[in-house]
Amino acid sequence: MENKDIPCIIELPRIYDPRGNLTFVQEGDGRLPFELQRVYWTYDVPAGEERGGHAHREGRELLVATGGSFNVNLFDGRTWTTYTLNRPYQGLYIPARIWRTLDNFASGSVCMVLTNVKYDEADYIRDFDEYMALQKQ
Ligand code: TYD
Repeated sequence: MENKDIPCIIELPRIYDPRGNLTFVQEGDGRLPFELQRVYWTYDVPAGEERGGHAHREGRELLVATGGSFNVNLFDGRTWTTYTLNRPYQGLYIPARIWRTLDNFASGSVCMVLTNVKYDEADYIRDFDEYMALQKQ
């Protein structure tokens, strides 16, 4: 059977309003493909800097550009795919065991990340050779 646990863009609800639009994520509404445990966000990323550079053993994530624009480069052990995130009503779902780097941050960008695991350094694979060895198992 085809493995459906692959990266994809998830459209989030949009409440249009002349006062300004609103988007939300709510546990149990069927949009989030995991149970939410933690939210974190990166900001003030200097021009030219790169974030990420790791994979997670169990952690699954939804990345949202709540402000600005940046690229997310995903590698599954065989193929690199780049997503440009710049819409606060779209999330990029990243399953476990996908290597990612984030770059090309526009000034003022905010990357919000929703995930199914509490912070645990043991969940990180930060060595690319180790990642490749795991993917070949
Ligand atoms: P890191 O994972 O290296 O950031 P990036 O996603 O850009 O690779 O995290 C940077 C530091 O922040 C690292 O020391 C771990 C710490 N950290 C926490 O304490 N809690 C968290 O939820 C996260 C995501 C990171």
